[in-house]
Amino acid sequence: MASVPSLASTVQQRLADGLSAALPDAASADPLLRRSDRADFQANGILALAKQLKGNPRELATKVVEAIPANDVLKEIEVSGPGFLNITVTDSAIIDTLAARAADARLGVPFNESAGTTVIDYAQPNVAKEMHVGHLRSAVIGAAMVEILEFTGETVVRRHHIGDWGTQFGMLIQFLIEHPHELDHSSESEVSGEEAMSNLNRLYKASRALFDSDEEFKTRARARVVDLQAGDEETLALWQRFVDESKIYFYSVFDKLDMDIRDGDVVGESGYNDMLVETCRILEESGVAVRSEGALCVFFDDVKGPDGNPVPLIVQKSDGGFGYAATDLSAIRDRVQNLKATSLLYVVDARQSLHFKMVFETARRAGWLNDEVKAVQLAFGTVLGKDGKPFKTREGETVRLVDLLDEAIDRASAVVREKAQDLTEAEIAERGAQVGIGAVKYADLSTSAARDYKFDLDQMVSLNGDTSVYLQYAYARIQSILRKAGDAKPVAHRELGLAASERALGLHLDGFGELIAETAAEYAPHKLAAYLYQLASHYTTFYSECPVLKADTPEQVENRLFLCELTARTLHQGMALLGIRTPERL
Ligand code: ARG
Repeated sequence: MASVPSLASTVQQRLADGLSAALPDAASADPLLRRSDRADFQANGILALAKQLKGNPRELATKVVEAIPANDVLKEIEVSGPGFLNITVTDSAIIDTLAARAADARLGVPFNESAGTTVIDYAQPNVAKEMHVGHLRSAVIGAAMVEILEFTGETVVRRHHIGDWGTQFGMLIQFLIEHPHELDHSSESEVSGEEAMSNLNRLYKASRALFDSDEEFKTRARARVVDLQAGDEETLALWQRFVDESKIYFYSVFDKLDMDIRDGDVVGESGYNDMLVETCRILEESGVAVRSEGALCVFFDDVKGPDGNPVPLIVQKSDGGFGYAATDLSAIRDRVQNLKATSLLYVVDARQSLHFKMVFETARRAGWLNDEVKAVQLAFGTVLGKDGKPFKTREGETVRLVDLLDEAIDRASAVVREKAQDLTEAEIAERGAQVGIGAVKYADLSTSAARDYKFDLDQMVSLNGDTSVYLQYAYARIQSILRKAGDAKPVAHRELGLAASERALGLHLDGFGELIAETAAEYAPHKLAAYLYQLASHYTTFYSECPVLKADTPEQVENRLFLCELTARTLHQGMALLGIRTPERL
């Protein structure tokens, strides 16, 4: 495995060398290299430098250019405008760097030298409750971050912080005791996720109704909470049934999402029960938290309610109960001290941002987070309906995730069927699922997470525009060309001149490694999605301007096949990081 420096970094280095040769005093100045439309690259750094040195920028730029020795990477450097450099690289340099990428299984993408351990908290639905689109976002974005970070060499620990604890379990368990067959399965055979959820749903509604209408049941339910917290065995066993039943449902949804969620990584809220008392003790003894009207609270100067009074983070309620915050603080201790995390990433709805702000600040005051260990919420926005309002059914109910996914698969199957040339029914069904699920994931990943986005299936499965379907078809088209090539093989030919669209495609391919580093560092999977869309667009232009199998010479056929194959591999790798399949035929 060899990491390949991009042409951008090579050019940057040449310019930096030229700068320090021409101006030894300015050795550390940054040439500020960017991709450019006018040439391959543009460097703007000399402008700022000239200002700083009180020199003439154009003269300075000319001096720098003269200080760069002749080489076979830079074809032309032109001083333009007030003192920019327009840089064109040679065709052979482009093919050389791409050939080096093609020779590497990782496409030349380097490992991050300062990789650490990141715990990613994502895909965290709640026991006995239906999953909704918010859980979809967390799962999709989180899974992409897992893959992207692992690809850069980061050690990733996955944590599914499911909601499996709380006072509502008193009511549920008590109801199950009084109606012992409510979770029974209809047959001996394996229960479906659908059936599991519908049982849970019915039980949830019935117990809630009883709780609200029957004072005596309410009292029994509350007593049951006490038993649960005291660790009463019978009560715990019933609680476990709810968790197990819910997991059957969760896994069926994750499976439909083509997502690999492992049981050992599911550490729900209950997983931190043993730590809660100590977490509170540490916070209280260190003075980070204080008692206020019986509750254990942490106060912040900048968190106030509408009345101007401070709103504290409540770590322990005045009745002694622990809530969401105590659990999250204990989870931080576990992740930092036991899992040895250097970064904690929380893929959670933006509506919980205040909670995490307070939790992180508390952990910092306690010393659990510090300069060596950071915590970040990768906050995502709300999923909106076509009408721009939060996603609801016509009846105003939350949309069931499963229905949504099924509809996406149906729509995608229709698209696949329409375009299918030589696919069997079974293949259409398989591709329909890959395209439909890919479309849902891509729609989620292609806008920056913080923004709300519209869930619009028509747009998502469209063949044109910024959709996964477009990317999947680009990939399948390349595979079809490679199959049709017969004896002609992809071979790089550095001696050939390149057409403009070949150069543009090549330079974009060469930027993959840098793009991955940026995507990982910024926790911004939408940047990878945008890169892949641009890649497919460059490929489309190349394909329409440059005949591949009918190119003029056998060498040109080989070289274009080489560009096709590297494009396909890059698309495949990038899509895989986003959790999206690339079928070989569509
Ligand atoms: N279960 C929560 C919900 O559905 C999300 C959990 C987020 N993670 C955490 N560590 N608090 O909203």
